Formats: sequence, structure tokens, C-alpha cells
Amino acid sequence: MKRIDKDIRKACTLPASFYSSEKFLSKARDDIFEKSWQFITHESNLKSQNDAFPFRFLDDFIKEPLFLINNEDIDCFSNVCTHRGNILLDKPCNVGKSISCKYHGRRFDSCGRFLSMPETKGMKDFPSSRDNLTKVPTEKWKQFIFASIDAPFDFGDLIKDVEERVGWMPIEDFTYRKDLSKEYTVDANWALYCDNYLECFHCPFVHKGLSSVLKHQEYAIELFSYSNLQLGVGNNKKDCFDLPKDSVDYGKNIAAYYFWLFPNTMLNFYPWGLSINVVKPISVKKTKIEFSSYVWDESKLDLGAGGSLDKVELEDEEIVESVQKGVLSRYYDHGRFSPKMEKGVHHFHSLVSQFFNRD
Ligand code: FES
Ligand SMILES: [Fe+2]
Repeated sequence: MKRIDKDIRKACTLPASFYSSEKFLSKARDDIFEKSWQFITHESNLKSQNDAFPFRFLDDFIKEPLFLINNEDIDCFSNVCTHRGNILLDKPCNVGKSISCKYHGRRFDSCGRFLSMPETKGMKDFPSSRDNLTKVPTEKWKQFIFASIDAPFDFGDLIKDVEERVGWMPIEDFTYRKDLSKEYTVDANWALYCDNYLECFHCPFVHKGLSSVLKHQEYAIELFSYSNLQLGVGNNKKDCFDLPKDSVDYGKNIAAYYFWLFPNTMLNFYPWGLSINVVKPISVKKTKIEFSSYVWDESKLDLGAGGSLDKVELEDEEIVESVQKGVLSRYYDHGRFSPKMEKGVHHFHSLVSQFFNRD
């Protein structure tokens, strides 16, 4: 795939085939998602020492079985027994003193080290370091736990700009609300969903309700290394953040901070709290989006840019599904970017082409 021109004024968007071919989806899996940091869960799922939380790296897309465990710090290990490959943990649990494989009784400690196994008499060069569970990189920001199989960049490079901008909020105290969390399935490629998220050019056309609370002309986009920020500026003070004096945004009416973390994670901060959206490919033309809500101030839930999120989501899904049909056309190859409105999409496409062309 051709590199995306760094100059947005000359650049073309990703080719239509990126959104419609198996080949590019597999390449995205290998070259982008396996190299990414994924949001896994929040710390309250691992409250006590030795609490373990099994998961697959990216559901059915990258099925790698892993588990998180509370060893004071949170660690992440392969969830596959080093004997004959059985899955060790099938649901969240407290592992107590050791993890025992249900197949032939091999045991590991909470740091993944081989402890024992029945009937090993006569085995040579055993146990060796290969009998321990492989440790996988994991990082915590506030109460949120991320993991990576093979990220070529530090987690700090992904999160530092978020921390700098909104770290003043009492994020650790935001409470997970299952009743406000939801999954959506959209009949479109994962990257079309991200493209749409990364601009509000479409807002006046697609989201009449949301547009009525935002000042479209002041909508701003800031780009960082592996993330970017869209600033939703409100029409007036009402339903906006009460910003501290040392915030760089002090004096502005900020209705929402929309952070995108390459390639598929969105952290949307509203005066009521945080909505984390994770975009998970199912197939070339099907994508799951997981919304999880962490509430700061319940009284603001239905107000301003952070209200009616379900309505906005359905409006986005409808337009993205329409685009999915359009990019299959023999007459569509690629488009161009609005330098003012589509900086975020250009940033995303540039990162895709950079990861596709890594050696
Ligand atoms: S597969 Fe785990 S002990 Fe045999
Ligand atoms: Fe939208």
C-alpha cells in the first residue's frame, strides 16, 4: 500500500480496498493490532491479591488467551499451560496459592513460575525456563489496565498527552456502571468507524442534536504521536467542564474531550465522567464497539455533548454503514482530506500506512 502523503493538502485517503479486502484486514491484524496496546478492564475486577482475570487479547479477532493477576502490581501472563497447552483459567477467580492445570495437574505460582507436576520422574532437563508462563507487557493508567503482545512503542507515549490534559480530574474515583455500558455491532469495517470518529465535519449533517450544543467553528483537533484530541467546545458555559485555573483550556467552554488512542480506543471525557469505546473487528464488514461508562457526576448524565450518546451512536452507525456500501463501488478508489476538518483522519491513515510499511 502506498504511503499516505505527510502533507494533508496533497494526501489521498486510504484506498477503498483497505475497507473491503480480507488481505488488508489480516495485515491490519498482524501489523497494527498485534502491535497495539489494548484496553482490557478496570482494576475493580482485580481487587484482592491473587485475583485473576482471563481474557483473549482481542476477542475473536486475536484470540490469544491471557490472564491478568493481582500481584500487588497487575501482571499479565499467557493463559496456556506449558505442558500440553490446556487453557488454565476459564473465568475470573482468586487463584489462592497456585494455579493448577485441570488436565494433568501442573502448577504455577502467581508470577507464572512452574511449581510442580505429577509423574515427572525420569524427565531430563526439567523443569526449565520454558516451563514457566510467558509474561506479557501490561500497564495501568488510573484504574484502567492495558496489555500488549508486541507494541513497538511505550504505553507512556500513548497516554501521556491524556494525562497532561485531563489528569486533574478525579478519574480514579470514576465508578464503572454496567447499566450504562453497552455493545454495538455495526455492518462496516473497523477503520470506517474510526475515520468517522476522527472528525466532526459530519456533525452538522449527521448529528443535528449534538450540533446544537457545540460551537462548530471552534471545534479543534490536536495531534500527538500515537493519539489525538478533538475538543468539543460548547455554545455556552452550561453543561461544560468547570476547569481548574492551571488547565490550558481555562476560560474556554469545553463540553467534551475526545481522545483517540491508536488504533482503536476512544476515551471520551464529559462533565458526567468517561465513556471508553473500544472498536473490535469481527470481519471485514462487521465491527463490534464496546462502550463502558465510568461516572463522576451522575446529575450531569443526560446533559450537553455527553447526553444522548445512544442517539449519536446510532446516527454514526447509519452513516458508516452507508459508506461501507459506497467504498465497494468500482467507481470509488480514494478521497481527499479537508485540511481544516480532517486532520484526525489524516493522522490515523498516516499511522496505518506507517505500520504497514515498517520493516
Ligand atoms: S496440559 Fe496442563 S498439565 Fe497437562
Ligand atoms: Fe459522529
